[in-house]
Amino acid sequence: MKLKIAVLAGDGIGPEIMQQGVAVLSAVAEKFGHEVTYKEALCGAHAIDEVGDPFPEETFRICEEADAVLFASVGDPKFDNNPTAKVRPEQGLLAMRKKLGLYANIRPVETFECLIHKSPLKDSLVRGADFICIRELTGGMYFGQKQEPSVNADGVEDAYDTNYYSRPEVERILKVGYQYARQRRKHLTVVDKANVLASSRLWRKIAQEMAPQYPDVKTDFMYVDNAAMRMIQEPTFFDVMVTENTFGDILTDEGSVITGSMGLLPSASTGSSTPVFEPIHGSWPQGKGLNIANPLAQILSVAMLFEYFDLKKEGHLVREAVNASLDANVRTPEIQVEGAPKYGTKEVGAWIVDYINRK
Ligand code: IPM
Ligand code: MG
Repeated sequence: MKLKIAVLAGDGIGPEIMQQGVAVLSAVAEKFGHEVTYKEALCGAHAIDEVGDPFPEETFRICEEADAVLFASVGDPKFDNNPTAKVRPEQGLLAMRKKLGLYANIRPVETFECLIHKSPLKDSLVRGADFICIRELTGGMYFGQKQEPSVNADGVEDAYDTNYYSRPEVERILKVGYQYARQRRKHLTVVDKANVLASSRLWRKIAQEMAPQYPDVKTDFMYVDNAAMRMIQEPTFFDVMVTENTFGDILTDEGSVITGSMGLLPSASTGSSTPVFEPIHGSWPQGKGLNIANPLAQILSVAMLFEYFDLKKEGHLVREAVNASLDANVRTPEIQVEGAPKYGTKEVGAWIVDYINRK
């Protein structure tokens, strides 16, 4: 297979983990005879500094022309405490999602046996938790009509965001939810706030209409506040959950910590144009340049990329190599066991590449 990959390394630890992601992608491609070409492009704070735009037209063009985007992370503390900054790195991420039509964000929540002790939850609760959150990514409050803080006609400062959803937007994301549920344990939980929000009542109405078309899937509905609680009380309850943009943003952060594996979780965003594969963790500016960032979420994003193109053996080899590195205690400092040597970003990546080469 020929694959054109757009490489968006972004900010903070992004470039370091990306280097390892690309090395793994290349090693697997070579092993299986795939021809991969890469094109790097600017995004995030880095792109603001260079060209004044966190998602420049040139980057958009490179993404559009690629078969897949491998993305690392964006963000820089110099923008965080400045609410009046005109351009922010995060806008680049939002622009990318909107322009590439990435309406489905797939975030798996998986447990790794060797990291369960890192979970803030009791082992017995979290062991075996394995679900996917499907977050709608191009609608809702993120993109609805909004007004920045300003003084209104009554002399009061106000601001608002609109949580707008249309039927086609809801139908297409629920469809993705059902497709995933069918390939897994056939249980779909639709998370909403239909007791309060009109937009949620639209979601629930459409889901109730669609459910009979998927008689093999058990559909249930859960209010978002209850879902936040259930994820802690009984994470093994969930198989596939599907929800709107804002709820999904919040619940997936919760999901990423309950298994203790935040640094290991990849994600995929898919839609009408080029799909994007990225770790769910952020740009961790404090770790930048220190060769201590965990590259595994980036490397597992490469597994998701292969799997997207139905290259199952390739994806499996990446996962196998990652598991082998964990078993061999070749780990970055934050997940290393006591007394064992700590490995750097580069060393973990090199070990995994070597494992792949020797297979
Ligand atoms: C995420 C992030 C982004 C979001 C930010 C960085 C804009 O939190 O991908 O979950 O809110 O969607
Ligand atoms: Mg988030």
